Amino acid sequence: MLSSRGRIAGVMGWPVAHSRSPRLHGYWLRLHGIDGAYVPLPVRPEHFTAALRALPLLGFAGVNVTVPHKEAALGAVDRSDPTSRRIGAVNTIVVAADGTLEGRNSDGFGFLENLRAGAPDWSPTAGPAVLLGAGGAARAIAVALLDAGTPEIRLVNRTVGRAERLGADIGGPFRVFGWADRARALAEASLLVNTTTLGMSGQPALDLALDSLPRTALVNDIVYSPLETPLLATARARGHRVVDGLGMLLHQARPGFAAWFGVEPAVTQELRRFVLEG
Ligand SMILES: NC(=O)c1ccc[n+]([C@@H]2O[C@H](COP(=O)([O-])OP(=O)(O)OC[C@H]3O[C@@H](n4cnc5c(N)ncnc54)[C@H](OP(=O)(O)O)[C@@H]3O)[C@@H](O)[C@H]2O)c1
Repeated sequence: MLSSRGRIAGVMGWPVAHSRSPRLHGYWLRLHGIDGAYVPLPVRPEHFTAALRALPLLGFAGVNVTVPHKEAALGAVDRSDPTSRRIGAVNTIVVAADGTLEGRNSDGFGFLENLRAGAPDWSPTAGPAVLLGAGGAARAIAVALLDAGTPEIRLVNRTVGRAERLGADIGGPFRVFGWADRARALAEASLLVNTTTLGMSGQPALDLALDSLPRTALVNDIVYSPLETPLLATARARGHRVVDGLGMLLHQARPGFAAWFGVEPAVTQELRRFVLEG
């Protein structure tokens, strides 16, 4: 349903054809009978700032920003919230009434909400968390875990310098491990999260022995294609509680939808099925 008064949002990325966000927001728009649309916006990196500046002129309510624009978006908006500045990236932009652009980051929120929904009895304060990877997603997750009271965050990355930079930029109880020490980093952990691209369809497998991970630890893979990654399958077979990565994508979308369209949307099993079928 879209009239000439409809509110418009979208997702800016390059490429953007693979994004599930139009299907996800489209579901909520239809469910709530909202006069609005959410469109894919393929924008080349060299055109990103100009495209962003055009949003208020075109009457957009805002956009999501995805790969490769998230870091550039932080520098291009008029205002950003403290969370996005600590992460160093913006994934949600709201056009204010005066036409200025406000940047936020809901990736960490989506991550934590996904764990809360998938493992309600797990607590981020329960013990050390192990993050495999130190890229953009790991930054958002590290900030979210720190703010939720996780007492120690172990950053395991192939490029050790990148993990050290992450720890220094954000500041907190971080310990950095090289990739060769990844199995050792699992001892006494209460959470293991894969934030690398390993295990994703078309990427190499994640090679990690889970023997030293306590059976009580929660295991999450933010890769959601495939939904059941080899890491989740191995962890499930060992008796761990596991949470897949699709919920992070679905939950991170909630704050933007609420800001642009004025309705707080819910993540449901039906939504999961609908997004997966697309
Ligand atoms: N579920 C969700 O909502 C959600 C949200 C965001 C991202 N994701 C997924 O999360 C993954 C990471 O995204 P990102 O934006 O953080 O990517 P990124 O910034 O490019 O970081 C990629 C990470 O993977 C590591 N890596 C890549 N190849 C490796 C290999 N062969 N061996 C060991 N480590 C390797 C990199 O290590 P180096 O630093 O050594 O290169 C880096 O830590 C992607 O699969 C993405 O689709 C999911």
